[in-house]
Amino acid sequence: MNRSFSTAFRSGPAGSLRRDSIGQEVRLVGWVHRRRDLGHLVFVDLRDRDGLLQLSFDPAWTPPDALAEARRLGPEDVVQVQGRVEARLKPNPELPSGEVEVRCSALSVLARAEPLPIPVYRTPDEALPAEELRLRYRYLDLRRPELQRNFVIRHRLAQTTRRFLSEHGFLEVETPMLSRRTPEGARDYLVPSRVWPGEFYALPQSPQLYKQLLMVSGYDRYFQIARCLRDEDLRADRQPEFTQIDAELAFVDEEDVFRVGEGLMAALWHEVLGVELPLPFPRLTYRDALLRYGTDKPDLRFGLEIADLTDLAQALDFRLFQATQGTAQRVRGLRVPGGAQLSRKELDELQAVGKRGGAPGVVWVKRTDDGWQGQLAKALEGGAGERFAAAAGLEPGDLFVGVVGAFRTGAPGTEAGAASDDGVAAGLEPALDELRRHLARRLGLVEPGTHAWAWVTEFPLFDWDADAGRLVAAHHPFTMPHADDLAALFAATEPDGPIALDAARALYRLPVRSRAYDAVYNGHELASGSVRIHVSELQQRVFRALGIGPAEAREKFGFLLEAFRYGAPPHAGFAFGFDRIAMLLAGAASLRDVIAFPKTTTARALFEGAPSAVSSDELTELHLRLKEP
Ligand code: AMO
Repeated sequence: MNRSFSTAFRSGPAGSLRRDSIGQEVRLVGWVHRRRDLGHLVFVDLRDRDGLLQLSFDPAWTPPDALAEARRLGPEDVVQVQGRVEARLKPNPELPSGEVEVRCSALSVLARAEPLPIPVYRTPDEALPAEELRLRYRYLDLRRPELQRNFVIRHRLAQTTRRFLSEHGFLEVETPMLSRRTPEGARDYLVPSRVWPGEFYALPQSPQLYKQLLMVSGYDRYFQIARCLRDEDLRADRQPEFTQIDAELAFVDEEDVFRVGEGLMAALWHEVLGVELPLPFPRLTYRDALLRYGTDKPDLRFGLEIADLTDLAQALDFRLFQATQGTAQRVRGLRVPGGAQLSRKELDELQAVGKRGGAPGVVWVKRTDDGWQGQLAKALEGGAGERFAAAAGLEPGDLFVGVVGAFRTGAPGTEAGAASDDGVAAGLEPALDELRRHLARRLGLVEPGTHAWAWVTEFPLFDWDADAGRLVAAHHPFTMPHADDLAALFAATEPDGPIALDAARALYRLPVRSRAYDAVYNGHELASGSVRIHVSELQQRVFRALGIGPAEAREKFGFLLEAFRYGAPPHAGFAFGFDRIAMLLAGAASLRDVIAFPKTTTARALFEGAPSAVSSDELTELHLRLKEP
């Protein structure tokens, strides 16, 4: 970033001064980061957005009143100085400007700072103040160079995104914040209308409907760095207000969308980390992701693939395995190369890890140079052990960790979907996912600096809402079903009647696949998208399966359905989580470190005190009355 500019207050930025400025007379401004008083002379670290710079005040070049003023400077006072850039007697290699200093001949204080509630300057071993306090004084915390660096990265990401997408023919269009309900499935933030008593705007959960309308309008390739608002329970990687790189394209299929999305990611990774991501990203179906890694957002930086050993396991003399015969239960596990080195205590830990993913227990066995060790050792004596080792790919020194139960994905190599006993239970895939990630950490299998991307495709069209006992959209209701599953969808639904419960369960269990996809990176979901439905008959069927009748469809999405009647092109799109990308590329620990004014985990803005109560006059004007507590 070129920041060599002068203003009425300064000849240029302070933190970016280097050797090539030696000998120049400069006028600088900034904050007093730290003052060191050495009796006869005073050093001040001046801080501006470009970094730190040493100022020196010395009777040899500083007039007595300026020297006296320098002695009175406190942390975070705002000052203006005049002086000459000189080589430092003792260069500081830790500081980018560490070869130079400015010998000050004049000093004026532009603003004093009161004693600080949180320090900006800290010694290297001083811990950060509690986050609550830092969020309360966010404007001070933002002065920290670490945070400033994050926002420079965020800015560069936004610029690179705009440049890349513009070069690829995308048009940036802004869409409304005061809107109608959007279909992302979280709760809406509502805004009461003063002009229309009893009516509310919804803040957009995403620009989804607008971008589809723009396709109907013929805008072909749209993008927006879009603010989204969702009233959902917060987790570390969620904020109620967040930003997406949102895009939509007409006349494209999945591969066209992937090329744009992965090209954009390559541009961003190059911009910030200087790495060249290998393109294209691998493609992986949802079903394969679940079968091989137990999750739809697999961390592909390491192997530890899941093996299904049901047939072999049932033949072993081991009660837990034999009991699965004739049931939908399966035996699946991981070959852990070098896992035999794990101690008894570390192996005992695996029980708790498996439980986090819903497994009642975890079975393990070590293959050592002198045979088998662990729960399965007896059952694996002789030929059975050799067959087991071959099927699971176990070498001496390896460990096998398995779980037994019902899975969402059926036997590998079959078409079958959900194999759990009641047909709608979640399945034990999450247990293997937990074990896989835990073991990779334990055994140090993740090489730092690895960037493992993939597009996960063919997500199920439907999820099962167990409380309501019905299908819900897994992505959103405009997602195109997979061509091979259209027949099943049409067979299970009527053109104009509700879907039967059994038929709905069967569609979930199949599962009906969709043309929805995610981009995953090192185990994080960074984007979602889909090919959309653009023909109304198919849309009606999907609404029917979702239990959305014509009246509800008209009420919720009438304007989109109406627009589709007047010539809608085939279209598809994606949205990347911009904050998540910024967090990962900045190496930040939390989304809060890359959002200038974030909310806490309880959705509060502490520095401004939002949300806040409003006066009864304001409520009356909005036609609202609060319920008595
Ligand atoms: P989705 O809801 O999956 O899809 O969101 C897309 C991406 O946005 C990011 N994200 C979030 N980031 C921070 N805080 C949150 N609360 C949050 N929620 C989501 C994630 C996610 O992958 N309209 C569709 C996209 C489409 O179909 O084109 C959508 O919004 O990185």
